[in-house]
Amino acid sequence: MLLVLVGCGPKEPALTSEELLDPEACADCHQEHYRQWSGSMHAYAAEDPVFVAMNERGQEETDGDLGTFCIQCHAPMAVELGLTDDGLNMDEVPDMLEGVTCAFCHRVEEVTADHNKGLTLSDEDDLLRGGIADPVETGAHRSAYSPLHDRGDAQSSDLCGSCHDLVSPNGVHLERTYLEWTESVFGMGGVSQLTCGNCHMRGSDGPAVNTEGAPIRRVHDHSMPGVDIAITDWPEREAQLELVQESLDGTLIGSVCVNPNAGLFDIQVTLENAGAGHAWPSGAAADRRAWVELKAYDAAGTEIFTSGVVGDTEPIAELVDPWLWLLRDTMTDANGDEVHMFWEATDSESDLLPPSVTFDATSPDFIHWVQRTYTVVAGQPARVEARVRLRPMGLEILQSLVDSGDLAEEHLSEFPTFDLGSVTMVWDGPLGSCTDD
Ligand code: HEC
Ligand code: HEC
Ligand code: HEC
Ligand code: HEC
Ligand code: HEC
Repeated sequence: MLLVLVGCGPKEPALTSEELLDPEACADCHQEHYRQWSGSMHAYAAEDPVFVAMNERGQEETDGDLGTFCIQCHAPMAVELGLTDDGLNMDEVPDMLEGVTCAFCHRVEEVTADHNKGLTLSDEDDLLRGGIADPVETGAHRSAYSPLHDRGDAQSSDLCGSCHDLVSPNGVHLERTYLEWTESVFGMGGVSQLTCGNCHMRGSDGPAVNTEGAPIRRVHDHSMPGVDIAITDWPEREAQLELVQESLDGTLIGSVCVNPNAGLFDIQVTLENAGAGHAWPSGAAADRRAWVELKAYDAAGTEIFTSGVVGDTEPIAELVDPWLWLLRDTMTDANGDEVHMFWEATDSESDLLPPSVTFDATSPDFIHWVQRTYTVVAGQPARVEARVRLRPMGLEILQSLVDSGDLAEEHLSEFPTFDLGSVTMVWDGPLGSCTDD
């Protein structure tokens, strides 16, 4: 049975083929979805000066061999329509085709590969798929239910995962969020199943269209915060920054313990990836820099040990610090030397916090926390301050893009350093105790 809404019924004029591609044409009726999406990294994906700079440098260094490799995920509709071969002419491509657009996600008909955007769009450009099984009829477009677009169905993770897993042209599996999810307790099916959308598209009750009389549904947030934020003037930038902080604040749990050890003192830091349905950090983990900053003081308040302390403009990876606990992927070339750019990598090594693989506390696999012990020789700690910090991208990578003339220097100062709220910890107990005792 179809309901007909006042002012939003089948008499609505049908959107033209061009309008169907334009997120702004959706805003008339799906205002909230549009607002949330417009501040997301999906909207920013091809606008991001770092993306533009890296693609430019990649095309130059590979003599154009990269082709559509990068832009196929960062502006998939522009590639679908054959308007770009390399992403270098985005100035000539209409703005409405930049980024991962409404029409792209909502026209996906089939997932053909679990990496490198193995997604096929339907030829019917006016048939938009979503998770609503009984959509109200509208003249604007046809609607259809699809399990690929229903976060309650495991297949919806295949849709996201196809772009969130990247195998480079050299065959290196550089972004593995989807693979990590399939191997986690959340991706194994059954009662513990949580799809990408379950965690990343918060549900709330409200109308899916801003028309009077629209039915109340479970609607899904499209802001999809992760760790990246816009570094140029961009809609919803402040709101997105807050969402990223909020989501990072609930991701890890941890503790700090201090124990005597043969006349010296051991500070033991434990971190557990409690919230993410994949490793942490994940995805572009070769670009991310997450690390533990530790400061220990004696009873007189004198600093007796530090690790991971850097200034706001100092790259963490260049810190000379034998104790540094840095969570990241490291890409290397055939000589085993570290490289910063996707296309140069022939191998990649990973040091991340793994996700849960079981909720059975009696299983040996239950333990997925990671511990590091720091030995203090300069005195007895009376107070230890620890925090986990994250930069969406290593400053040395950004500097390298500035040095090659691909990125404007002014962007460097726009990169945030996040502190994760739940693992900003202070220990000041008796020796042998832990912050979570
Ligand atoms: C004239 C108003 C109007 C415009 C413009 C419009 N839609 Fe819709 N759309 C609707 C209505 C009405 C529904 C049904 C809502 C409901 O049942 O709660 C809907 C439903 C949807 C659904 C859910 C389908 C399902 O079955 O789950 C998607 C996805 C969607 N629209 C995407 C878009 C996109 C993308 C655009 C822009 C290209 C767009 N809409 C433009 C009115 C509109
Ligand atoms: C159990 C909840 C959960 C599930 C399931 C989940 N995620 Fe996440 N995801 C998180 C949390 C928590 C974070 C870390 C907080 C943040 O980055 O804002 C995160 C971070 C991310 C990031 C940023 C990663 C980074 O470090 O750069 C991406 C991208 C992402 N998720 C995509 C996905 C995709 C795609 C799927 C499905 C294949 C998925 N997530 C499944 C909770 C989840
Ligand atoms: C990255 C892919 C993606 C993009 C981009 C995207 N959507 Fe969605 N959208 C989804 C998924 C997945 C769902 C279904 C969630 C569910 O039902 O579990 C959804 C649901 C919807 C719905 C149904 C109501 C709801 O909240 O479930 C509407 C309407 C909608 N989207 C409109 C839009 C509009 C308008 C845009 C662009 C401004 C857009 N979407 C961009 C993936 C996307
Ligand atoms: C067409 C490919 C594509 C699809 C499909 C897709 N994404 Fe993305 N997603 C991207 C790209 C590209 C970015 C990164 C944009 C940037 O940071 O410049 C991104 C960014 C994100 C981020 C923010 C990451 C960060 O570090 O800030 C999250 C979270 C995310 N996607 C979740 C999802 C979820 C959930 C789905 C499925 C509903 C999905 N994506 C579907 C391509 C895609
Ligand atoms: C398979 C789809 C896919 C391809 C191909 C792809 N990307 Fe991305 N890209 C993503 C996704 C998804 C994210 C978000 C990952 C995350 O948040 O961890 C992203 C994030 C980024 C970011 C911002 C996040 C960061 O800090 O790294 C840049 C810059 C970027 N990609 C550049 C490139 C370049 C340059 C290429 C080509 C060499 C490329 N991408 C190819 C999907 C893709």
